Amino acid sequence: MITLSNIEKNYQMGDQTVHALRGVNLHIERNEFVAFIGASGSGKSTMMNIVGCLDRPSSGTYQLNGRDVATMSSDELALVRNAEIGFIFQSFHLLPRASALDNVAQPLIYRGIGHKERQRMAFEALEHVGLGQRVHHRPNELSGGQRQRVAIARALVGKPSILLADEPTGNLDSTTSAEILALIKDLHRNGQTVVMVTHEPEIAQQCHRVVRLHDGRVLSDLRNSSAEQALEQSPQSIPEVAA
Ligand SMILES: Nc1ncnc2c1ncn2[C@@H]1O[C@H](COP(=O)(O)OP(=O)(O)O)[C@@H](O)[C@H]1O
Ligand SMILES: [Mg+2]
Repeated sequence: MITLSNIEKNYQMGDQTVHALRGVNLHIERNEFVAFIGASGSGKSTMMNIVGCLDRPSSGTYQLNGRDVATMSSDELALVRNAEIGFIFQSFHLLPRASALDNVAQPLIYRGIGHKERQRMAFEALEHVGLGQRVHHRPNELSGGQRQRVAIARALVGKPSILLADEPTGNLDSTTSAEILALIKDLHRNGQTVVMVTHEPEIAQQCHRVVRLHDGRVLSDLRNSSAEQALEQSPQSIPEVAA
């Protein structure tokens, strides 16, 4: 599904070049549940931006569902992003004046789907995350956990092939974090491919695969194999690998 080959990303800062990624190779299959971890500055956000088609690598190739996206124009990239990627963020990124329903329906506008069908799909997505009774509430009328559920519904309403989550529980208390993580795990169990950035080891432990970045490189790439995960693993269980 995702194949990154020799990805480099450089940023020019005056006369200095920042090497944010220095030759990353990574393959992610459909229905994997992957965490990117690593210290601040190790390249996690840069990786997410590239995987999520928000940005292009300086060199290397990125195949997403068989298409080479590393060399696409910004317009082409936006189309791929809208069709293939659902994002959730630490700070939810909801439209403050719009209802939950309108927030969730919003990405469908760019697909040329009519108003009525958008509302129907958004309602269904909100029901799916347990917010069927809150569809007319605005973000400030919802709790943090409910806001993140709205954001998850918005990420999923267009049935993306990948859910990308950048510190999705970073702004939530521990009980609410656990609920949101349970929801994400549930989505994964039902077939969703999930890639998550986290700096919390307890959260990374619950993913099936942990990719550790260091200084723009993949330092390790390990599959979790505790009994607990084995119980939850999808039927076609994945063999152990060590990087
Ligand atoms: N837009 C940018 N311009 C210049 N340097 C950047 C930019 N984005 C990230 N960097 C640099 O690239 C490196 C990796 O950053 P980032 O991917 O944000 O790391 P992380 O998310 O792991 O903290 C850091 O040294 C950071 O300062
Ligand atoms: Mg970051």
